[in-house]
Amino acid sequence: MNEITREALFNQVRAWTLQAGAMIREKIYEPRTIDIKSNPKDLVTEMDREIEAFYANKIKSYYPHHYLLGEEGYGDKEIDQNKTIWILDPIDGTMNFVNQKQNFAISIGIYDKTVGEIGFIYDVMNNNLYSAMREGGAFKNDRKLNRLDANKQLDQSIICLNHYWLMENKYFDHRIGQQLVRDARGTRTYGSAALEFAYVAEGALDAYVTMQLEPWDIAAGKIIVQEVGGLTTNIFGEGVGMLDRTSILTCNPNLHDTLINNYFKQAKKVT
Ligand code: IPD
Ligand code: CA
Ligand code: CA
Repeated sequence: MNEITREALFNQVRAWTLQAGAMIREKIYEPRTIDIKSNPKDLVTEMDREIEAFYANKIKSYYPHHYLLGEEGYGDKEIDQNKTIWILDPIDGTMNFVNQKQNFAISIGIYDKTVGEIGFIYDVMNNNLYSAMREGGAFKNDRKLNRLDANKQLDQSIICLNHYWLMENKYFDHRIGQQLVRDARGTRTYGSAALEFAYVAEGALDAYVTMQLEPWDIAAGKIIVQEVGGLTTNIFGEGVGMLDRTSILTCNPNLHDTLINNYFKQAKKVT
Protein backbone atom coordinates (compact mmCIF):
# COMPACT_ATOMS: atom_id res chain seq x y z
CA MET A 1 0.00 0.00 0.00
CA ASN A 2 1.80 3.17 -1.10
CA GLU A 3 1.32 6.54 0.63
CA ILE A 4 -1.01 8.11 -1.96
CA THR A 5 -3.23 5.04 -2.02
CA ARG A 6 -3.26 4.96 1.75
CA GLU A 7 -4.33 8.63 2.06
CA ALA A 8 -7.01 8.18 -0.57
CA LEU A 9 -8.24 5.01 1.08
CA PHE A 10 -8.36 6.76 4.46
CA ASN A 11 -10.53 9.56 3.06
CA GLN A 12 -12.78 7.09 1.31
CA VAL A 13 -13.34 5.00 4.44
CA ARG A 14 -13.92 8.16 6.45
CA ALA A 15 -16.67 9.27 4.04
CA TRP A 16 -18.32 5.84 4.00
CA THR A 17 -18.22 5.61 7.76
CA LEU A 18 -19.88 8.99 8.23
CA GLN A 19 -22.50 7.87 5.71
CA ALA A 20 -23.06 4.57 7.54
CA GLY A 21 -23.41 6.44 10.83
CA ALA A 22 -26.03 8.74 9.32
CA MET A 23 -27.97 5.67 8.10
CA ILE A 24 -28.05 4.34 11.66
CA ARG A 25 -29.06 7.65 13.23
CA GLU A 26 -31.87 8.08 10.72
CA LYS A 27 -33.49 4.81 11.83
CA ILE A 28 -32.47 4.75 15.47
CA TYR A 29 -36.06 4.99 16.80
CA GLU A 30 -37.58 2.58 14.29
CA PRO A 31 -38.73 -0.88 15.42
CA ARG A 32 -35.88 -3.41 15.44
CA THR A 33 -35.63 -7.01 14.34
CA ILE A 34 -33.53 -8.62 17.04
CA ASP A 35 -32.07 -12.10 16.66
CA ILE A 36 -30.12 -14.11 19.19
CA LYS A 37 -26.80 -15.60 18.10
CA SER A 38 -24.59 -17.81 20.29
CA ASN A 39 -26.42 -17.04 23.57
CA PRO A 40 -29.24 -14.75 24.82
CA LYS A 41 -26.76 -11.91 25.46
CA ASP A 42 -25.31 -12.13 21.95
CA LEU A 43 -27.62 -10.08 19.72
CA VAL A 44 -27.79 -9.06 16.08
CA THR A 45 -30.28 -6.73 14.41
CA GLU A 46 -31.27 -5.91 10.86
CA MET A 47 -29.13 -2.76 11.23
CA ASP A 48 -25.93 -4.72 11.98
CA ARG A 49 -26.56 -6.63 8.76
CA GLU A 50 -27.50 -3.56 6.74
CA ILE A 51 -24.31 -1.72 7.72
CA GLU A 52 -22.05 -4.69 7.05
CA ALA A 53 -23.71 -5.19 3.65
CA PHE A 54 -23.19 -1.48 2.91
CA TYR A 55 -19.42 -1.81 3.42
CA ALA A 56 -19.25 -5.20 1.66
CA ASN A 57 -20.85 -3.71 -1.47
CA LYS A 58 -18.62 -0.64 -1.42
CA ILE A 59 -15.45 -2.68 -0.96
CA LYS A 60 -16.43 -5.12 -3.68
CA SER A 61 -17.07 -2.37 -6.22
CA TYR A 62 -14.20 -0.01 -5.35
CA TYR A 63 -11.53 -2.43 -4.09
CA PRO A 64 -12.32 -5.87 -5.57
CA HIS A 65 -8.82 -7.13 -4.77
CA HIS A 66 -9.27 -6.41 -1.02
CA TYR A 67 -10.68 -8.90 1.49
CA LEU A 68 -13.37 -8.31 4.09
CA LEU A 69 -13.61 -10.05 7.43
CA GLY A 70 -16.91 -8.99 8.97
CA GLU A 71 -18.77 -10.17 12.05
CA GLU A 72 -22.10 -10.77 10.35
CA GLY A 73 -20.93 -12.97 7.47
CA TYR A 74 -21.02 -10.61 4.48
CA GLY A 75 -17.26 -10.85 4.09
CA ASP A 76 -14.99 -13.35 2.39
CA LYS A 77 -15.06 -16.96 3.49
CA GLU A 78 -11.31 -17.26 3.03
CA ILE A 79 -8.79 -14.53 3.73
CA ASP A 80 -5.37 -14.20 2.11
CA GLN A 81 -3.27 -12.68 4.90
CA ASN A 82 -0.71 -11.39 2.40
CA LYS A 83 -3.23 -8.99 0.91
CA THR A 84 -5.23 -5.99 2.16
CA ILE A 85 -7.94 -6.96 4.63
CA TRP A 86 -10.74 -4.89 6.07
CA ILE A 87 -11.84 -6.10 9.50
CA LEU A 88 -15.28 -4.76 10.31
CA ASP A 89 -17.65 -4.71 13.23
CA PRO A 90 -20.70 -2.92 11.80
CA ILE A 91 -22.14 -2.26 15.25
CA ASP A 92 -19.93 -2.90 18.25
CA GLY A 93 -22.12 -2.78 21.33
CA THR A 94 -25.30 -4.19 19.82
CA MET A 95 -26.83 -4.64 23.26
CA ASN A 96 -26.36 -0.90 23.89
CA PHE A 97 -27.71 -0.17 20.41
CA VAL A 98 -30.87 -2.17 21.19
CA ASN A 99 -31.41 -1.17 24.82
CA GLN A 100 -29.86 2.29 25.09
CA LYS A 101 -29.78 3.63 21.54
CA GLN A 102 -26.33 5.03 22.31
CA ASN A 103 -22.85 3.84 23.37
CA PHE A 104 -22.15 1.74 20.28
CA ALA A 105 -19.69 2.20 17.43
CA ILE A 106 -18.75 1.21 13.92
CA SER A 107 -15.25 -0.28 13.98
CA ILE A 108 -12.99 -0.82 10.96
CA GLY A 109 -9.35 -1.77 10.81
CA ILE A 110 -7.51 -2.08 7.52
CA TYR A 111 -4.49 -4.36 7.51
CA ASP A 112 -1.96 -4.80 4.74
CA LYS A 113 0.03 -8.04 4.89
CA THR A 114 -1.04 -8.29 8.58
CA VAL A 115 0.22 -4.78 9.43
CA GLY A 116 -2.43 -2.40 10.76
CA GLU A 117 -2.55 0.65 8.49
CA ILE A 118 -5.86 2.45 9.06
CA GLY A 119 -8.32 2.40 11.95
CA PHE A 120 -11.72 4.04 12.45
CA ILE A 121 -14.03 3.88 15.44
CA TYR A 122 -17.20 5.90 15.03
CA ASP A 123 -19.25 6.76 18.10
CA VAL A 124 -22.36 7.18 15.99
CA MET A 125 -24.76 8.94 18.35
CA ASN A 126 -22.18 11.43 19.62
CA ASN A 127 -20.79 11.92 16.11
CA ASN A 128 -17.25 11.36 17.35
CA LEU A 129 -14.93 9.76 14.82
CA TYR A 130 -11.67 8.30 16.16
CA SER A 131 -9.13 7.54 13.47
CA ALA A 132 -5.51 6.68 12.86
CA MET A 133 -3.07 5.88 10.11
CA ARG A 134 0.06 3.95 11.03
CA GLU A 135 2.80 6.39 12.03
CA GLY A 136 0.45 9.31 11.35
CA GLY A 137 -0.93 9.84 14.85
CA ALA A 138 -4.48 9.33 16.11
CA PHE A 139 -7.36 11.77 15.95
CA LYS A 140 -10.72 12.40 17.55
CA ASN A 141 -12.56 14.19 14.76
CA ASP A 142 -10.02 16.84 13.68
CA ARG A 143 -8.10 16.97 16.94
CA LYS A 144 -4.84 15.07 17.16
CA LEU A 145 -4.74 13.00 20.33
CA ASN A 146 -1.87 13.48 22.77
CA ARG A 147 0.55 10.69 23.49
CA LEU A 148 -0.41 8.86 26.68
CA ASP A 149 1.04 10.08 29.96
CA ALA A 150 4.09 7.91 30.58
CA ASN A 151 4.09 8.53 34.34
CA LYS A 152 0.57 7.37 35.18
CA GLN A 153 0.41 5.13 38.27
CA LEU A 154 -2.32 2.60 39.04
CA ASP A 155 -3.73 4.61 41.95
CA GLN A 156 -4.22 7.53 39.54
CA SER A 157 -5.82 5.35 36.86
CA ILE A 158 -9.28 4.36 35.69
CA ILE A 159 -9.47 0.74 34.56
CA CYS A 160 -12.23 -0.49 32.29
CA LEU A 161 -13.47 -4.01 32.88
CA ASN A 162 -16.76 -5.84 32.66
CA HIS A 163 -18.31 -6.80 36.01
CA TYR A 164 -18.49 -10.30 34.67
CA TRP A 165 -14.74 -10.74 35.24
CA LEU A 166 -15.19 -10.02 38.94
CA MET A 167 -17.30 -13.15 39.34
CA GLU A 168 -15.91 -16.67 39.29
CA ASN A 169 -15.04 -17.44 35.67
CA LYS A 170 -13.05 -19.94 33.63
CA TYR A 171 -10.36 -17.51 32.45
CA PHE A 172 -8.69 -16.13 35.57
CA ASP A 173 -8.90 -15.94 39.35
CA HIS A 174 -11.57 -13.28 39.89
CA ARG A 175 -10.21 -12.43 43.36
CA ILE A 176 -7.16 -10.87 41.70
CA GLY A 177 -9.56 -8.83 39.57
CA GLN A 178 -11.30 -7.69 42.75
CA GLN A 179 -7.93 -6.62 44.18
CA LEU A 180 -7.36 -4.58 41.02
CA VAL A 181 -10.67 -2.78 41.61
CA ARG A 182 -9.47 -1.89 45.12
CA ASP A 183 -6.07 -0.65 43.94
CA ALA A 184 -7.11 1.48 40.96
CA ARG A 185 -8.49 4.99 41.33
CA GLY A 186 -11.69 3.89 39.64
CA THR A 187 -13.31 1.38 37.29
CA ARG A 188 -15.79 1.78 34.46
CA THR A 189 -17.54 -0.38 31.89
CA TYR A 190 -19.23 0.85 28.69
CA GLY A 191 -20.30 -2.28 26.77
CA SER A 192 -18.51 -1.57 23.50
CA ALA A 193 -14.97 -2.87 23.15
CA ALA A 194 -14.27 -0.49 20.27
CA LEU A 195 -15.32 2.56 22.29
CA GLU A 196 -13.31 1.29 25.24
CA PHE A 197 -10.20 1.14 23.02
CA ALA A 198 -10.99 4.67 21.81
CA TYR A 199 -11.33 5.96 25.38
CA VAL A 200 -7.93 4.47 26.22
CA ALA A 201 -6.50 6.25 23.17
CA GLU A 202 -7.86 9.60 24.28
CA GLY A 203 -6.72 9.05 27.87
CA ALA A 204 -10.23 8.96 29.37
CA LEU A 205 -9.46 5.40 30.48
CA ASP A 206 -5.97 4.19 31.34
CA ALA A 207 -6.55 0.51 30.60
CA TYR A 208 -9.20 -1.79 29.18
CA VAL A 209 -9.05 -5.45 30.04
CA THR A 210 -11.25 -8.29 28.87
CA MET A 211 -11.00 -12.05 28.58
CA GLN A 212 -12.43 -12.75 25.15
CA LEU A 213 -12.62 -10.62 22.03
CA GLU A 214 -12.91 -11.33 18.33
CA PRO A 215 -10.68 -9.83 15.60
CA TRP A 216 -13.37 -7.25 14.62
CA ASP A 217 -13.56 -5.99 18.22
CA ILE A 218 -9.81 -5.37 18.26
CA ALA A 219 -8.72 -4.45 14.72
CA ALA A 220 -9.31 -0.68 14.69
CA GLY A 221 -8.66 -0.06 18.37
CA LYS A 222 -5.25 -1.65 18.34
CA ILE A 223 -4.09 0.67 15.54
CA ILE A 224 -5.51 3.80 17.19
CA VAL A 225 -4.08 2.99 20.63
CA GLN A 226 -0.68 2.26 19.13
CA GLU A 227 -0.59 5.74 17.56
CA VAL A 228 -0.71 7.40 20.99
CA GLY A 229 1.97 5.14 22.42
CA GLY A 230 -0.34 2.64 24.10
CA LEU A 231 0.24 -1.11 24.24
CA THR A 232 -2.15 -3.90 23.26
CA THR A 233 -1.40 -7.51 24.23
CA ASN A 234 -3.28 -10.41 25.72
CA ILE A 235 -3.60 -10.38 29.51
CA PHE A 236 -0.37 -12.33 29.87
CA GLY A 237 1.61 -9.78 27.84
CA GLU A 238 1.80 -11.76 24.59
CA GLY A 239 1.36 -10.07 21.20
CA VAL A 240 -2.02 -10.15 19.46
CA GLY A 241 -2.22 -11.19 15.80
CA MET A 242 -4.63 -9.75 13.27
CA LEU A 243 -6.96 -12.77 13.32
CA ASP A 244 -6.64 -13.75 16.98
CA ARG A 245 -9.59 -14.46 19.21
CA THR A 246 -8.07 -13.55 22.55
CA SER A 247 -8.06 -11.80 25.89
CA ILE A 248 -6.99 -8.16 25.65
CA LEU A 249 -5.15 -5.67 27.75
CA THR A 250 -4.84 -2.30 26.04
CA CYS A 251 -3.35 0.44 28.14
CA ASN A 252 -1.04 3.23 28.97
CA PRO A 253 2.51 1.85 28.56
CA ASN A 254 3.39 2.72 32.12
CA LEU A 255 0.68 0.44 33.51
CA HIS A 256 1.35 -2.52 31.27
CA ASP A 257 4.05 -4.28 33.31
CA THR A 258 2.27 -3.57 36.60
CA LEU A 259 -1.02 -5.02 35.40
CA ILE A 260 0.57 -8.10 33.85
CA ASN A 261 3.07 -8.91 36.59
CA ASN A 262 1.15 -7.91 39.72
CA TYR A 263 -2.29 -9.05 38.65
CA PHE A 264 -2.95 -11.09 35.53
CA LYS A 265 0.03 -13.46 35.59
CA GLN A 266 -0.87 -14.31 39.16
CA ALA A 267 -4.48 -14.82 38.23
CA LYS A 268 -3.74 -17.34 35.50
CA LYS A 269 -5.87 -20.47 35.78
CA VAL A 270 -4.25 -23.76 34.95
CA THR A 271 -6.68 -25.64 32.74
C1 IPD B 1 -19.39 -7.00 22.09
C2 IPD B 1 -19.02 -5.71 22.79
C3 IPD B 1 -18.84 -5.95 24.26
C4 IPD B 1 -17.81 -7.02 24.54
C5 IPD B 1 -18.20 -8.30 23.82
C6 IPD B 1 -18.34 -8.05 22.33
P1 IPD B 1 -20.89 -6.86 19.85
O1 IPD B 1 -19.50 -6.79 20.69
O2 IPD B 1 -17.82 -5.17 22.28
O3 IPD B 1 -18.43 -4.78 24.91
O4 IPD B 1 -17.73 -7.27 25.92
O5 IPD B 1 -17.20 -9.27 24.04
O6 IPD B 1 -18.73 -9.24 21.69
O7 IPD B 1 -21.39 -8.28 19.93
O8 IPD B 1 -21.81 -5.89 20.45
O9 IPD B 1 -20.43 -6.50 18.49
CA1 CA C 1 -18.09 -6.46 18.73
CA1 CA D 1 -21.06 -6.37 16.37
